[in-house]
Amino acid sequence: MYTNATHRQEDGGKIMQPDREGKADIGCCKSVAITCISETGWLDENVWLKNVERAGGREVSQWSVDWDETNSAGYSSLIEIEGTDGARRRFLLDSGWNNDYMDAAFEREGVDEMLKKREIEFLYVTHEHFDHYFGVASTLKYDPDITVMVPNTLHDEGYRLLAGGEFPACHARNPVPHRGKLIRHDPDVIYQLYPGCASVTFSIDIPFRVQGEQSLFFNVEDKGIVCVTGCCHQNITAFADFARDRIQGGENLYGLYGGLHIAPVGALDAAGEKTVMNLGKYGFKKIACNHCTGVGAVKKMVGLGYPVAGGSARNGSLSDLYLGNGDRIVF
Ligand SMILES: [Fe+2]
Ligand SMILES: [Fe+2]
Repeated sequence: MYTNATHRQEDGGKIMQPDREGKADIGCCKSVAITCISETGWLDENVWLKNVERAGGREVSQWSVDWDETNSAGYSSLIEIEGTDGARRRFLLDSGWNNDYMDAAFEREGVDEMLKKREIEFLYVTHEHFDHYFGVASTLKYDPDITVMVPNTLHDEGYRLLAGGEFPACHARNPVPHRGKLIRHDPDVIYQLYPGCASVTFSIDIPFRVQGEQSLFFNVEDKGIVCVTGCCHQNITAFADFARDRIQGGENLYGLYGGLHIAPVGALDAAGEKTVMNLGKYGFKKIACNHCTGVGAVKKMVGLGYPVAGGSARNGSLSDLYLGNGDRIVF
């Protein structure tokens, strides 16, 4: 049984202080299960590239791009954590982009009912990017009182969207103003959301003038550290290094989930190849990457014998080499 949301994260999570070695003890959990609700950012890469080209490239603000509304989809995952006491809790990681697409994806995975019954404790927004955040209304329509956690690097537009704003230039709108608690996470602070689950915001410049991305670290009993990300714009090396250097138990990296931003569009280039090669040194036992990792990068990982979790290539995911839409993994 899943506990109803109690919104007990009133203070945004406990701030974890480092020990003498500079590492934080984030506690421990029994397991973490992740359902990929959707990893498809957009439907047609060529249409997306044309939108970007016409807007003037990736240096412009995402709020000024005339995104083709028939091409948008979105990224969202459902996280289920079991505590060492057996208590189970759920939260959503991101809310996708196109509302019709996300509504269908939430319905398919039963997320609409969970939100209505308030069985999802909060919406964790990894970053402000269109494909992770413009679809926030798809969550709020079922639970406008849900707690929302954002990196404290969002632009004013991001807060206005949450409050019910409309942005005709980029076709972003939220007809359901957020009424719940808003929690902002400061960069470079380790917040414990639950025992065995911590959030860290990486302060970085991201394409389309987005700032900062927050990611999750789980410490799973008898297994090790599981790193969970949206797009991993901080890059996988910085992400894994943070776990290794700043989290107790980080010398034993067990799992990895999410978009790794290695070959987000087009083929795997030389820099991406180097990133994939370097990933091997961390010794992850279970890699469930999708979204902006890029099929070329996944193929390379599989070729190198990395423990990549495959998927069912359903609901619009392009390959069974990676964990796709509607697939679930347990760490
Ligand atoms: Fe993304
Ligand atoms: Fe992104």
